[in-house]
Amino acid sequence: LAETRTPAPVVGDQAEYLAGLQGCTRCPLAQSATQAVPGEGPPDAALMIVGEQPGDHEDLAGRPFVGPAGQLFDRLAAQAGLDRSRAYVTNAVKHFKFQPRGKRRLHQSPDRDEIDHCRWWLDVERRLIRPRLLVAMGGTAAYSLTGDKSGLLKRRGSVEPGPDDTPVLITLHPSYILRLPDETARQKASADLTGDLACAVELVR
Ligand code: URA
Repeated sequence: LAETRTPAPVVGDQAEYLAGLQGCTRCPLAQSATQAVPGEGPPDAALMIVGEQPGDHEDLAGRPFVGPAGQLFDRLAAQAGLDRSRAYVTNAVKHFKFQPRGKRRLHQSPDRDEIDHCRWWLDVERRLIRPRLLVAMGGTAAYSLTGDKSGLLKRRGSVEPGPDDTPVLITLHPSYILRLPDETARQKASADLTGDLACAVELVR
């Protein structure tokens, strides 16, 4: 990554965050993605919800969680009593990483170096928003926020110490639920994610 690394921009407010992120070439993912996908939500949000990285739909729309995983998230969040418009929703990595396959772009998980590199932007967002609780959806966000790469399923539902004394609630990623092969497993995992999101709402009430 070293040769594409550019100096970190100065970011003191939301406008500088948005401009700096669009111009970011600190890692090679910026070269193939359509655009960086910034986090979105009110500047005084108590909850910051962190996913993995934008998918195909998010890369084109420039907004987080608008594709199939986002639709599932919206449905379960509503069931949990979580008003998405009052939370700040973002990703651990801000550019879509994919493998071209014909006309399709197949999602590839970001590697540890890419997650470590992009944590700089997540730190900027945490500094600007100052959430009271972080929600890590999936292993990438959990690693980015806690430094712990160990198995997610054993940790889900727990609150772990996070950066700058902000607690991190560990939960499932909606894409994981969509990939589960049978309906019973999907229902159980959906109930787990819904329960965790309801717990997050309670913790910041
Ligand atoms: N998956 C994510 O992790 N983030 C998005 O924004 C969309 C899908």
